[in-house]
Amino acid sequence: MRKNSNRRPEKTGVRKVVRLRGAGKTIVLGVTGSIAAYKSAELASLLVKQGHQVFAVMTHDATEFITPLTLQTLSKNPVMTSFFDEKENWRPGHIELADRANLLLIAPATANTIAELAHGLANHPLAAIALATRAPILIAPAMNGKMWSHPATIENVETLKSRGVEFIGPEEGMLACGYEGLGRLWKVDDIAFRTEFLLARQENLIA
Ligand SMILES: Cc1cc2nc3c(=O)[nH]c(=O)nc-3n(C[C@H](O)[C@H](O)[C@H](O)COP(=O)(O)O)c2cc1C
Repeated sequence: MRKNSNRRPEKTGVRKVVRLRGAGKTIVLGVTGSIAAYKSAELASLLVKQGHQVFAVMTHDATEFITPLTLQTLSKNPVMTSFFDEKENWRPGHIELADRANLLLIAPATANTIAELAHGLANHPLAAIALATRAPILIAPAMNGKMWSHPATIENVETLKSRGVEFIGPEEGMLACGYEGLGRLWKVDDIAFRTEFLLARQENLIA
């Protein structure tokens, strides 16, 4: 078990999203069942404005917090919520998205989804895409502070980091569950900025 002492609270800075030369990519935006799921609407909108193709993939529980219609309208693309949405092609849509993605961004990511990814589960499209894609993965967690600092979550995060998955946040602040602590979704502008950076870095446009 790892100690929590090196998980110091982090603060987001104020940053403007700038369009870098890596624009015009395919981003799979995973949305999970967090109270912060509504913020994925702004994120999708920002990424589309930055010139990217955004394909939202929602967990079943995410649809309790924000409708697929909202993300479909803002992303201008169909939203995947189930394996059984996929009726158009002979080729499974989740594998097509996994192959097509330049980046898999999961924002917000619940403790549950992080655990599923750490254990290589594939019982919904987002988890299957995370297994099947070879694109970089950026995860923006959001959860109660005690869930974030639980040894199980710490281990899951470390496992994913050791496989090259990048995390952004969470930040400290007032949480929807009524507690103050480390668990808030990182600022959407900063997530979009980091997304741009990772996409540009893939093309070796940035050192
Ligand atoms: C109102 C409400 C808010 C929640 N917010 C969070 C959250 O921010 N982070 C989290 O990890 N779980 C949160 N949960 C619990 C998740 O919804 C639950 O663990 C669910 O199984 C996650 O499923 P998913 O990872 O497949 O989306 C919340 C539940 C409720 C009812």
